[in-house]
Amino acid sequence: MKLPFAESYKIKTVETIKKSSRSDREKWIKEANYNLFNLKSDYVFIDLLTDSGTGAMSDKQWAAIMEGDESYAGARSYYALKDSIKEITGFPYFLPTHQGRAAENVLFSAIIKEGDVLPGNSHFDTTKGHIEFRKAHAVDCTIDEAKNTELEIPFKGNMDLGKLEDVLKKYPAEKIPAIVVTVTNNTAGGQPVSMENIKGISKLAKKYGVKVMIDSARFAENAYFIKTREKGYEKKSIREISNEMFSYADYMTMSSKKDAIVNIGGFIGFKDKEDWQKCQMYNIMFEGYITYGGMSGRDMNALAQGLYEGTEFEYLETRIKQIEYLGMKLDEYGIPYQRPAGGHAIFVDAKKVLSHVPKEQFIAQTLGIELYLEAGIRGVEIGSLLADRDPDTRENRYPDLELLRLAIPRRVYTNNHMDYIAAALKNVYDRRESITKGYVITKELPIMRHFTVELKPA
Ligand code: F0G
Repeated sequence: MKLPFAESYKIKTVETIKKSSRSDREKWIKEANYNLFNLKSDYVFIDLLTDSGTGAMSDKQWAAIMEGDESYAGARSYYALKDSIKEITGFPYFLPTHQGRAAENVLFSAIIKEGDVLPGNSHFDTTKGHIEFRKAHAVDCTIDEAKNTELEIPFKGNMDLGKLEDVLKKYPAEKIPAIVVTVTNNTAGGQPVSMENIKGISKLAKKYGVKVMIDSARFAENAYFIKTREKGYEKKSIREISNEMFSYADYMTMSSKKDAIVNIGGFIGFKDKEDWQKCQMYNIMFEGYITYGGMSGRDMNALAQGLYEGTEFEYLETRIKQIEYLGMKLDEYGIPYQRPAGGHAIFVDAKKVLSHVPKEQFIAQTLGIELYLEAGIRGVEIGSLLADRDPDTRENRYPDLELLRLAIPRRVYTNNHMDYIAAALKNVYDRRESITKGYVITKELPIMRHFTVELKPA
């Protein structure tokens, strides 16, 4: 008999989670003003809000924490992290930050000025926020195929090189501080970017004299997809592939809370010593001294170890196969999602599920609330709440896709949890025709409103 797939780790520590009643959840979500971010985590049974900082650290990471060196400057932990970053990414210079958006803040403070343009493949919301906050523009050059959730192509996160070249032709190089390549492409569904695409971007960047930045939150998952889907990479290790990906970049920003499997941490990688020096001042102002930058020594130790574990093939295979498993369950029930299954999450196509809810009433948010009410599962809206208002016109932006992201934390839930999630979604799906009303906003902030927005039933 062929042996079934099994996880490449066993469990040493567990954390209790609690179920609740539907009437409790109705009360709690109302008190939270229908914003899932506002819920106490104790009111959630399975938390799929994010895969960021929610992973389970290993015995080796906890051991590394005990050995953290808390010296203010030049700590051993800093050098351990430096070695790990050098080995896995090839970047010779780096600055530690407390998380990914802090890395963006430091780097962008040094390189972006008002009126600049940064083309990319679906900039993540904090990346876009940091760009727009500086009165610069994020131009999305993602391939159009990414918008068709039914289409199965291997590298749906790619940048359209034609769209990119149009931007590079339209603006002078001085106005383009960097091309932002996000791997995997979170917003498009955790979809990977091929090595061929990264090479093509790098070629164009060289031709027009602009730099390339890789937003690397999920670089290891991206490398897994390159290894398993792209010709010529089958025999290469995840670390070899990672090194090649980063060889095409001038900068990397890293939210270590994802693929480095730590609860907090980030960094910026630089190829050029001068770029690194230019950013040091901002790092000291916003984050901390250049050898700790918002992380404690123990955090840096756990991160150094996490980078090694996060780039082990067996671990990545376990992880990606779990997302695939959830996708297969949804296939069984006919529930539409962004195909193929992504690296860190399943993105349910909310427009296709709740076709009677008008777009002005936040379709994906409505589906998220329904799933919570059904079974205490918390996902997150990737739709028009997140898309926010246009910074110039202040009009609501309605993206082509309304998605409910179910992000799976690393090494946390079992496949029984996946079965539970799929069954809860099926129950919502079965009563979809009866869901005709969504929600309207009662309170919002001027930027990144989705975190704190308040809503009421329409
Ligand atoms: N870039 C990408 C692609 C991200 O997904 C995130 C965070 C960041 C940058 C910012 O990093 O959170 O460490 O400051 N994404 C989380 C998510 C929040 O849920 O997808 P951070």
